[in-house]
Amino acid sequence: MVHIKAKVLAKIEVAIDIYKLRLSCPKIAASVLPGQFVHVECGKDREFILRRPFSVHRRLGGNAFEILFQVVGKGTRALAEIEKGDILDVIGPLGNGFEVSDTVKNTLLIAGGIGVAPLMFLAEKLFAGKIPFDVLIGCANCKKAVPFDLQNIIKDRVFFATDDGSLGFKGTVTELFLNHLKKNEKPDVIYTCGPKAMLKQVALIAEKHGIACFLSLEERMACGIGACLSCVCKTKSGQKRVCVDGPIFDASEIIWE
Ligand code: FES
Repeated sequence: MVHIKAKVLAKIEVAIDIYKLRLSCPKIAASVLPGQFVHVECGKDREFILRRPFSVHRRLGGNAFEILFQVVGKGTRALAEIEKGDILDVIGPLGNGFEVSDTVKNTLLIAGGIGVAPLMFLAEKLFAGKIPFDVLIGCANCKKAVPFDLQNIIKDRVFFATDDGSLGFKGTVTELFLNHLKKNEKPDVIYTCGPKAMLKQVALIAEKHGIACFLSLEERMACGIGACLSCVCKTKSGQKRVCVDGPIFDASEIIWE
């Protein structure tokens, strides 16, 4: 883990109010794993006391990486106003990462909204390791759909669900997941990230079908390094800190509220 000033190489609005920031930071890019996150100071002159956690979306060689974020409040609004050439204060890489067993032969990635962020990086790892995978992405409508950067290569394996049917399946991503299970070979493992209600549904369906499932939990975080307990979640082995014990958890371990 390093605490570093990272230069903004690019800011791209990839969907309405959803941005990709490309940061020059060899020290993080060289070691970050899919599923890990960085803690970023938003705004100028310590305008916001608390940093915001963002999953690493892609790693670009050993020199740069990208984060993906949606404008949901003042901190992310300030981050959206950053420009190419600006400097960001970043701590990372933090947390654990997705584990991919050597025996995995067929995987399914399920994203809800901005939950596509860590799954893109994981998809690149799976692709490099020649592990087949399908991708299901749920969002409100086509204007909120984040392009999946491997789409051109695996285009017939990326499926969207939108609430209004403006892109792909009309309905929720969990409905699309159920349909997908009926029509396709059962995956060995599911990796998922998105809103908690969606994660719970995916976890329950996976359990019912006897499929291993790993999820990336999102929680508000203060310190990001395990000291403040602001990010705890309930698991079958007690309370865990999402920032250091996660954010990736075995779904069967989570006690849902
Ligand atoms: Fe402080 Fe996780 S954010 S313990």
